[in-house]
Amino acid sequence: PHEETLAVIKPDAMGEHKAEVEAGGFTVTQMKEMVLSREMAEQFYKEHQSKPFFNQLVDFMCRGPCLMLILSKVNAVEEWRAMMGPTDPAEARNMAANSLRARFAKDILQNSVHGSSDCQHARDKIHLIFGEVDPETGADSQ
Ligand code: CMP
Repeated sequence: PHEETLAVIKPDAMGEHKAEVEAGGFTVTQMKEMVLSREMAEQFYKEHQSKPFFNQLVDFMCRGPCLMLILSKVNAVEEWRAMMGPTDPAEARNMAANSLRARFAKDILQNSVHGSSDCQHARDKIHLIFGEVDPETGADSQ
């Protein structure tokens, strides 16, 4: 089915990924560059709140601008995750040498990109980052 997913180009990889997104056949329906506040980063990653790396992750995500993208395509969620490759770039280099993380990620924390894990997460995070997006005009409410 035709879907939308939220993609985040993380602070360590700003500038390197836009051409890749277009080459992957995604339509970018909304895009904005922003520095996440701690509150936003904590909310964004609330599913990882209990993980030992949570504070490091929030620090990293707030340290500079991220590029937030709504990507639209048939099977966008899965296609974007396939393009990113595994979370850990060491694994990505073994399993998916052409993936974005294999090519650009520094380590398991600074792994250059994020993508929603399913459609519900995509809707939640798109709402968190862009507010209500008007399906007709694509304009957000923020
Ligand atoms: P992401 O796909 O955005 O989802 C959660 C993020 O937490 C992940 O990418 C990494 O940036 C980070 N992460 C996941 N596992 C670890 C780990 N073991 N140590 C440090 N950071 C991690």
